[in-house]
Amino acid sequence: MSAIDSNSQNQRVTIDVQLERTRWSDHLAEETKAGLSDEPPWIPPVWFYDEIGSDLFDQITRLPEYYPTSAERQILGDHACEIARITGAEHLIELGSGTSEKTSLLLDALGENGLRRFIPFDCSEEILRSASGSIAAERPEIEVHAVVGDFHEHLDALPMEGMTLLAFLGSTIGNFEPDQRKRFLAEVGTVLGSHDWLLLGTDLVKSQDRLTAAYDDAQGVTARFNLNSLDVMNAELGADFERDGFDHMAVWNQSESRVEMHLVALRDHRVTLGALDGLTLELAGGEHIRTEISTKFTREQVTTELNGAGLEVVRSFTDDNEDFLVSLARPAQNRITQR
Ligand code: SAH
Ligand code: TRP
Repeated sequence: MSAIDSNSQNQRVTIDVQLERTRWSDHLAEETKAGLSDEPPWIPPVWFYDEIGSDLFDQITRLPEYYPTSAERQILGDHACEIARITGAEHLIELGSGTSEKTSLLLDALGENGLRRFIPFDCSEEILRSASGSIAAERPEIEVHAVVGDFHEHLDALPMEGMTLLAFLGSTIGNFEPDQRKRFLAEVGTVLGSHDWLLLGTDLVKSQDRLTAAYDDAQGVTARFNLNSLDVMNAELGADFERDGFDHMAVWNQSESRVEMHLVALRDHRVTLGALDGLTLELAGGEHIRTEISTKFTREQVTTELNGAGLEVVRSFTDDNEDFLVSLARPAQNRITQR
């Protein structure tokens, strides 16, 4: 389903809605029900990003402990011109674009090399509207075609005409389970044409102290971000979570190489979720709900996973501290000649 409208102030913005509201709500309800019925219980990360949560995430990206955003910004600042030169992209698609703040570095460099269109893609229509409006106002020379969609479902709906650079930044891929990640990369491998490129941001393994501090900052912003997901479920799922009955916790899971965000029950809870057919969740004090995973990679693992999806890494870039990795990949050339 696709509805197109244009922003009255700027005719160069279109918003293409691939997410049909009721289907998306049903899907999230199903997933949440499955997660909360699991042992131990978990919830999908989508409940973080209401208006308050998106604002808290924006604050996280500026925290001294949260190095990924500044590291990735440094990489893009240092290498955007090279990325523009190598790819020669006419279209830039950004998945899970959020505010697209760091992306302006790419837009500047690609803009000087013939970029014509920017396609931010996110499941939040509100954030897309606001980001698209500001980008279009700052860059009247490019067309902004925003897509409201689910990156697990709607990659086949991406407009893939012209030489395209598909950017997936912020180590959002680290928030996927291994099987989800595999499916996603395979899908990317099939939507990219022989002249298209993927730019993938991944956070790298480092000391456990720095990793957990990045997800449990001294000012408590990440704690508020995590706890906000309870307020969002109360509003959206008719739930009755008591927010002050939970604590934020960031745990390093060594065997899965990931930081996990949890909400720990401070006392016994009996939570009812009206919109999930009245599902009740019984939690004893000390029990956890897992709200997010953030996988940390090695360079080798990123290369192996991209290769597994039929993509070859042409260049990869890190920041001065080697905290973060940005990989530029394309469909493997041997795969293309075999076709
Ligand atoms: N790329 C930005 C923002 C990352 S936050 C950065 O690097 O800082 C993750 C973004 O993904 C949010 O804007 C959220 O709304 C979006 N998102 C989460 N789940 C999604 C899904 N299933 N499909 C599309 N976008 C999603
Ligand atoms: N993609 C981000 C990451 O994995 C998302 C994120 C940052 C996040 N801070 C968080 C998710 C805190 C949950 C809680 O780093």
